[in-house]
Amino acid sequence: MSQVQGPIGVDRALHSAPGTTPTPTIFKEFSLPDRVAIVSGGHRGLGLEMALALAEAGARVYALDLPPSPSEEFINVSRFVERLGEGRSLSYVSVDVTDQKQVWEKVAEIGNKEGRMDVCVAAAGILHEAKCLDYEAEDFQRVMSVNVNGVLYTAQAAGRQMVKFGNGGSIILIASMSGSITNRDHTWVAYNTSKSAVLQMARSLACELGSKQIRVNSLSPGHIYTKMTAAFIDKQPELADKWASSNPLGRLGRPDELRGVVTWLASDASTFCTGSDIIVSGGHHSW
Ligand SMILES: NC(=O)c1ccc[n+]([C@@H]2O[C@H](COP(=O)([O-])OP(=O)(O)OC[C@H]3O[C@@H](n4cnc5c(N)ncnc54)[C@H](O)[C@@H]3O)[C@@H](O)[C@H]2O)c1
Repeated sequence: MSQVQGPIGVDRALHSAPGTTPTPTIFKEFSLPDRVAIVSGGHRGLGLEMALALAEAGARVYALDLPPSPSEEFINVSRFVERLGEGRSLSYVSVDVTDQKQVWEKVAEIGNKEGRMDVCVAAAGILHEAKCLDYEAEDFQRVMSVNVNGVLYTAQAAGRQMVKFGNGGSIILIASMSGSITNRDHTWVAYNTSKSAVLQMARSLACELGSKQIRVNSLSPGHIYTKMTAAFIDKQPELADKWASSNPLGRLGRPDELRGVVTWLASDASTFCTGSDIIVSGGHHSW
């Protein structure tokens, strides 16, 4: 059910009785009370930041990730969410997204417990560097297995629950600007290929699932400092300047700069948006 009852926007303004004091609805349209969300790769980095944003918007969020138990950082964020109250929660579930059966089962358990499934963010991903002519089959396969297969299995797991409960839903696949452009001077053929696959996966899923009111979009961040990118920047500090100067804003992004866009995509504020790729790159792709 929609978060705002009755007419909305201009229609609401025109139906509002003169002499009454109306309340704005715009922030309510972004809110997620009573919604249930899963976020793969939600243990840290962009996944954790987006999981927190959804929880702040009111959702009960389940972070799916590899470690058998959550880190102190995750536990502290989860306690913060608990203190925010009003039904919000951030829980941890250990899952390997490359294991289709496991992801389907764990997400089905969440669906059975909650009685609904509204939002899926597939953010688990890995990055591996090797020259394109020497890229070993096993390394290539590992990147594909997490970044492509794992994203599909996560979307399937959530989509199956969304169909079961019949409330529609929003699936957000975390791609990258590397799915549309090639990062200059980096030997990331597997990663770039995997992210292009995610863009097309989002469009394909969107077309198949639209009739069930399940929206599917991809979100493509630019360079943001996380443990994934720290593995490069911390070893070669000049890279941070190089990446920063590759976009018109002249800086790296912060994980929290995805809070707005993920909440928009997850919520009723984006009900006509599906099959789209939203690029949040500081304008990197514009140059
Ligand atoms: N940081 C950036 O600049 C950037 C830019 C564009 C896209 N992205 C994408 O955003 C997503 C998150 O990246 P990040 O920077 O936060 O990286 P990160 O390495 O900090 O987080 C990735 C998370 O995915 C989890 N993960 C990896 N393999 C998994 C598996 N098999 N099953 C379950 N979880 C698994 C990791 O444990 C980790 O918690 C990735 O898909 C990445 O490709 C990141």
